[in-house]
Amino acid sequence: MKYELPKLNYGYDALEPYIDAKTMEIHHTKHHQAYTDKMNGVLEKYPELTQSPEELMAMFDSLKMDEADKKVFKNHGGGYINHKLFWQNMDPANQKDQQLVDDLAAAFGSLETFKEKFTAAAVGQFGSGWAWLVRNKEGELEVYGTSNQDSPLLKGHAPILCLDVWEHAYYLKYQNKRPEYIENWWKVVKMI
Ligand SMILES: [Fe+2]
Repeated sequence: MKYELPKLNYGYDALEPYIDAKTMEIHHTKHHQAYTDKMNGVLEKYPELTQSPEELMAMFDSLKMDEADKKVFKNHGGGYINHKLFWQNMDPANQKDQQLVDDLAAAFGSLETFKEKFTAAAVGQFGSGWAWLVRNKEGELEVYGTSNQDSPLLKGHAPILCLDVWEHAYYLKYQNKRPEYIENWWKVVKMI
């Protein structure tokens, strides 16, 4: 199965001034495109795998692939999946999800406490990776960071909100100031 680069539902400049147009364009057309192409390169060797990349990631441990290909799928399939959700999370057309807001307040004590925990996971992620809000197998909300392009689907968790803290996501505008990028990123999240 061959996948196209997932489309952005908004312009590269739509998240200005918090996320700059140049970073968005390079991130989408170069980085996300490369993850998509490399994932396709592996999946085309296994035409019998007709499940979606998300479904394949969720069954990663039992995936019948050559070990080297599996590693490529974990990294680049992860990159494909993670960025797809990241763009959706930042869509300016998103509406506030009151149910999610209420669930977060119940799970973490308050919405502010959730944001603090998520921010701490993002700031504290050593090297390249992501911060996540997920629902675990028990249906509980959890916050944590992952390295590289590791997806929460690998643990059987359902991702809800993600933040890319690879330097390619912010270096052009923010250089080494990851905390400032994260603080401004919250301003483009409309769902909570
Ligand atoms: Fe990225």
